[in-house]
Amino acid sequence: MGEDGKHHADYSNIQPGTLSKEETLQHVVLSYEALAADTSNWVANLSNCSSLLWHAYHSLSIPVNWTGFYVLHTTSTTSTTTSELILGPFQGKVACQLIQFGKGVCGTAASSQLTQLVPDVEQFPGHIACDGETKSEIVVPIIKDGKTIGVLDLDCLKLEGFDEIDKKYLQQLAELIVQTCDFPF
Ligand code: SME
Repeated sequence: MGEDGKHHADYSNIQPGTLSKEETLQHVVLSYEALAADTSNWVANLSNCSSLLWHAYHSLSIPVNWTGFYVLHTTSTTSTTTSELILGPFQGKVACQLIQFGKGVCGTAASSQLTQLVPDVEQFPGHIACDGETKSEIVVPIIKDGKTIGVLDLDCLKLEGFDEIDKKYLQQLAELIVQTCDFPF
């Protein structure tokens, strides 16, 4: 238990039906900030962030089926260096491990450095279907000093699962993540 009498799991407990989507996502941002005050370890912080998002969307009865991260993964030989995205901390079903920059929704967000708000994944050329039940998706790039170091990815079981409100708060989270985590890549 923390000094303020709060258990860590309490950050995940939002009484269903009590907060609007905007209030819920504000709660996620504030909770992330409070938790990240304890550590700058990226695995710990992205793990808790995935959990906060998972429980927040479920408290809103929005059928989000994946919340998590892909992070930068660079491999080098004597003559070449390859940058890809590799699966990071997440909540949800098992997902593909490696995604090339420029491929799928995640790789597009990573290479363009622009948030991808996808109301219908079937209409997104090259969408990578880790889970055939996913209908919509949002991917926010995480950019440090001009370089993409990862992406925040959320999937939903219904069409048009995400909108500009989600985009606003998920982008805030991505900025906070850059400020609060030490990344070894
Ligand atoms: N759909 C993503 C792949 C990652 S999963 O959704 C977890 C994409 O097209 O990049």
